Amino acid sequence: MTSPGAEPDPLPSRRDARMRVTRRGRIVGAAALAIVLVVAVVAVLVLLQPQPAPPAATPEPTASAPSATPTPTATPTPTPEPEETFDMTRNSIDDPGSFWVVVDKLRPLEPRDYAAPDLVDVPVPYVYAPKLRKKAADAVVAMFAAYERETGLRMQSQSAYRAYATQVTTYNGWVSQLGQKGADLTSARPGYSEHQTGLAIDISALPANCALQACFADTPQGTWLAENAWKWGFILRYPEGKTSVTGYEFEPWHYRYVGKALAAEMREQGVETMEEFFDLPAAADYAG
Ligand code: DAL
Ligand code: ZN
Repeated sequence: MTSPGAEPDPLPSRRDARMRVTRRGRIVGAAALAIVLVVAVVAVLVLLQPQPAPPAATPEPTASAPSATPTPTATPTPTPEPEETFDMTRNSIDDPGSFWVVVDKLRPLEPRDYAAPDLVDVPVPYVYAPKLRKKAADAVVAMFAAYERETGLRMQSQSAYRAYATQVTTYNGWVSQLGQKGADLTSARPGYSEHQTGLAIDISALPANCALQACFADTPQGTWLAENAWKWGFILRYPEGKTSVTGYEFEPWHYRYVGKALAAEMREQGVETMEEFFDLPAAADYAG
């Protein structure tokens, strides 16, 4: 029994139930909205973050190793090539074994009985079987072959290497024939001859024509040699009009191997004798 006026325990009505359901829906909806908002805010924040720079693209491999210095695009101004100067001191003019040795009446071979090295037979036609130093021999063979190819004519070796003892015989023969004064204008005394270096050759025509005479200069062989021998490294050692410098009369047959560089340089400069080229005293006579 309940006291009058007292309110009975209230029974849940349908309306209450509906209200409870509606309230729960609102809570769920609010929670969902909050989640959506949080996600949206996070997304906005992420998007507003500064983006890191993309990694540099890997360069394509090239055929050659990359250079530290970038290739200039402008065409560089070419630097002018320095003119190649002839080195006058490249070889000795005193050493008897040098291809530039200068031998004359004031410059005897040291020692006087010097014997040339690397002598070989020279395979060309001859009067006396020739020997020369290897380089000079090869140059003679090539020059004679070129002459024959070019002209159809031939030349021969008259005399090439002469040892000290041979030069004694040769010089004495000239003294017997001409007397010493005459001999000294055409034949070197032993120890003073280029023939003793293995670098000199007397050349004559084949068949012989004006052999060992001034008129050899006017033969086809003589004129060709005067014009072309430098190409094979030879110089005409006793030119016409240079007796006061060389000490010998004109010998258009006597060629001296000095190598292509020096022969070409002397020709280029128009200097005929080794004495003048190397600024040496004129050697008209023996000293004393
Ligand atoms: N005919 C030259 C000068 C010599 O005898 O060497
Ligand atoms: Zn000679």
